[in-house]
Amino acid sequence: MSQGLLTVSYIGATILFILSLGGLSNPETARRGNLFGIIGMGVAIVATLMSARLAHASTLAPIIVAMAIGGAVGVFAAIRVKMTQMPELVALMHSLVGLAAVLVGYATYFDPGATLTGAEKTIHEVEIYVGILIGAVTFSGSVVAFGKLAGKVSGKPLTLPGRHQFNFGLLIVTVLLGKVFLNAHGVGEGLTPLLLMTLIALIFGVHMVMAIGGADMPVVVSMLNSYSGWAAAATGFMLSNDLLIVVGALVGSSGAILSYIMCRAMNRKFFAVIGGGFGTSGGTAASSAEAPAGEVVAVSAQETAEMLRDAKNVVIVPGYGMAVAQAQHTVFEITQFLRGKGINVRFAIHPVAGRMPGHMNVLLAEAKVPYDIVMEMDEINEDFPSTDVAMVIGANDIVNPSAMEDPNSPIAGMPVLEVWKAETSIVMKRSMASGYAGVDNPLFYKENNRMLFGDAKKMLDEVLNHLRASA
Ligand code: TAP
Repeated sequence: MSQGLLTVSYIGATILFILSLGGLSNPETARRGNLFGIIGMGVAIVATLMSARLAHASTLAPIIVAMAIGGAVGVFAAIRVKMTQMPELVALMHSLVGLAAVLVGYATYFDPGATLTGAEKTIHEVEIYVGILIGAVTFSGSVVAFGKLAGKVSGKPLTLPGRHQFNFGLLIVTVLLGKVFLNAHGVGEGLTPLLLMTLIALIFGVHMVMAIGGADMPVVVSMLNSYSGWAAAATGFMLSNDLLIVVGALVGSSGAILSYIMCRAMNRKFFAVIGGGFGTSGGTAASSAEAPAGEVVAVSAQETAEMLRDAKNVVIVPGYGMAVAQAQHTVFEITQFLRGKGINVRFAIHPVAGRMPGHMNVLLAEAKVPYDIVMEMDEINEDFPSTDVAMVIGANDIVNPSAMEDPNSPIAGMPVLEVWKAETSIVMKRSMASGYAGVDNPLFYKENNRMLFGDAKKMLDEVLNHLRASA
């Protein structure tokens, strides 16, 4: 393929990626956005394989074998993964982007064909150094994030004494090593500072994510998403591939915008997060927080069905437990039934509900819940006082009043869905256990709250049966 055709293909792919991001910003256009992304990536891969640089059988053969192996692993993972494991899978994917940047960095450094001199050589070495740095932080940070999301690593923040000074020290050493690397004569001499910097970047990635408490994980997920984009862009610089630079920058900046949105949702400071220097220093550990007291009133599925049937306004608040129970389809059936009886049913979506951005929207879209009754937190919070029944399905942290009432709570300051302002709130979960942040929830003890204990899918099936029986 000629250089001209390659450039045209890359521009076409870039436009498709931009359309893809635009589509993904709204649930109604998300499918189309995904399709644009798939076509764009298809164009990018075919054009790259046909480019003059690679179009020799001896170069293409190993690439196609590697793609077949990687593609098979990807398809296998996509088929096997449960919807509840998606966040872990995404974290793992981010780690692979980081690892790729590190490997490409070393391969570029060892490239025997490199003949650059003077300023060009320095710029190329800066690209390698920065690329490996971002890649290594993304890799190790994402591996720890995977561990935390999968419950293999404790969600408690690791707050070493003097950790900010430690991070600052790592930064200074990284800059000094960079100077040594750029002044080195020959590959052999530059390798030691490069390896040392990689080790430091790996330690920094681990330390940064280990220091983050459970409640702050959404910001970490979107931040690592952004870092993986910058790692891809760095790879693009090293390989002199314009498309990779553009795509990396798109992912990096959209991830940064998502981090900003998450920060607003969590009431955290954006710049502190981007620097990785934030934590839960403002909160106390969950175990030391004062346990809420009072009585918990349990209700049956039949009583829940009666309350729903007698209501005029119902707001459903889905959380991570709905994803675990795969209860979204029954939720939709109940919604249809109630709407058929003239009851106004709406959904309230907290920005950090579930375990990944947009988690609840994806599940509700899968169950075909109409988009116009799915409200964001800001749109619906003021409607709770005029709501008859707020039905909380497998959600906990996102409806925890201590975020607003207890300044010592680890989630203090986080905006939450104020379900307790409804005439009655019903919380559907299996036990009195706390949510992801490990914080007790005083909502359960409020006078107007009822608990429907059990698996969300099982209990909702029972509620639906009672509703139908009484129709
Ligand atoms: P959580 O606070 O984690 O609460 C989920 C609740 O669901 C649990 O208390 C659990 O109680 C219940 N549950 C689990 N399985 C269930 C089942 N089969 N049937 C019924 N209930 C079930 O979830 P949330 O309210 O959605 O809040 C999200 C939390 O995750 C926040 O702390 C957020 O910061 C964090 N987080 C979010 C993200 C993103 S990007 N969204 C990423 C990482 C972390 P039982 O065990 O008693 O049933």
